[in-house]
Amino acid sequence: MITGKLQNASDSQSLPKSTAEQIFQEEQLYLAPGVQSICLNSRLVIDHGKGVHVTDLDGRTYMDFFSGVTVGSLGHCHPKYVSALKAQLNKVTFGSFTTVPRFEFLKNLAEVAPGNLRRTQLYSGGAEAVEAALRLARAHTGKFEVIGFWGGFHGKTGGVLGLVGDRFKHQHGPMAPGLHLAPYANCNRCPFEVSYPGCSFLCVEFLRKVIRHNTTGSIAAILVEPIQGTAGNVVPPPGYLKELQAVARENGALFIADEMITGFGRTGKLFGVEHEGIVPDIMTLGKGMGGGFPVSALISTDEIVSAKPFSLPSASSSSYGGNPLAAAAARVTLEIILEENLVENSREVGAWLIRHIEEMAGRYSFVGQVRGRGLMIGVELVRDKKSRELLSTQASQALFQIGLKEGILLMISSSAIRINPALIISQQEAARGLEILDRVFGQIQKTKIHLQ
Ligand SMILES: Cc1ncc(COP(=O)(O)O)c(C=O)c1O
Repeated sequence: MITGKLQNASDSQSLPKSTAEQIFQEEQLYLAPGVQSICLNSRLVIDHGKGVHVTDLDGRTYMDFFSGVTVGSLGHCHPKYVSALKAQLNKVTFGSFTTVPRFEFLKNLAEVAPGNLRRTQLYSGGAEAVEAALRLARAHTGKFEVIGFWGGFHGKTGGVLGLVGDRFKHQHGPMAPGLHLAPYANCNRCPFEVSYPGCSFLCVEFLRKVIRHNTTGSIAAILVEPIQGTAGNVVPPPGYLKELQAVARENGALFIADEMITGFGRTGKLFGVEHEGIVPDIMTLGKGMGGGFPVSALISTDEIVSAKPFSLPSASSSSYGGNPLAAAAARVTLEIILEENLVENSREVGAWLIRHIEEMAGRYSFVGQVRGRGLMIGVELVRDKKSRELLSTQASQALFQIGLKEGILLMISSSAIRINPALIISQQEAARGLEILDRVFGQIQKTKIHLQ
């Protein structure tokens, strides 16, 4: 069934009952349910994209403020990216042999990665890379337990599902043994109801207690997102990652930064950990790394990657990992990020956006908090600023649909709008997005949808 709102959206454009709508509906007969809610709720059939815009089969163009769950660092169809992939298609596309693109990508990555992180293994999906990082940590430490965090997200496969600090794991039990969770430093919603810096990192002290009371004392790794993405782009306070690294050291565990989203310029530094000047033992990478191509990785030190059995022939590889196309995509993406100064762009346009959204937030009673770093921005949505009760799913949905009607794709998760546009977004484009957002917010305020 087509929702009333979407029918109206089509009507307002005077479109006939579209082929796109028919294709969407018919695809549902063949597609197993459970694809991302942004796809299901938008019901879009995308035809093409250019830069920060996508156009559907009916010819409606949308500003893409989420870049395909943050994978499209270069936006849609960056010319240099397109020609690099076309050239690779004409050469060789599969196989795990050394290729020039893979060699060059690995070398370039080693040059820009923090500290002594320089040995990379390539995979295809994020969860796969995080699972590999856990295998590596276990191989290196000879221990097996892993600590993750409330609100954390690392993928949906069996080895990491237990480290997801949210409802994604509900009804999938039992989880793999040895996985433990502690509260993240989400100061805006601190579970201990204390404030930073006066709290002296009570959450870290609590983590020590979790380790003492909940684990067997065999901690292989602490796994953390430098900024929590799925939780709504939650930025921890300064010093937090350093504190976690210290806890890892105390326990002879490795410190793994899951930079799947925060890596490759998203936060206004090339890697999220650089905001705190720390070097993790392992970083997991993906999403924006391939500019949209499914490629992910772990990167670590010479010493750590030599741990057995991880380092034995065929022990840490996968069928598609680092195939020539993936390598070409990752190589050209990193090249473009560096030569077009996209890290600086992310920092500057992101800061501009955060400043302006904060100004705008004063006019809307349902904006609880504006947060973020670079182009990883979270706008928390509440019923009202006083109660701070999080916006209902129904109201969030209505906001999403209004955005769609106004021509913007917004990802809403954990009662927050996650603004993660491509790193190539110009200030003018960001301003245009802001204008649309302002119109969407105006409609919410006027119709009082937030009180639903
Ligand atoms: C921080 C983080 N790690 C891992 C993953 C899992 O990536 P994938 O969906 O490619 O398995 C995600 C996905 O959103 C993520 O945000």
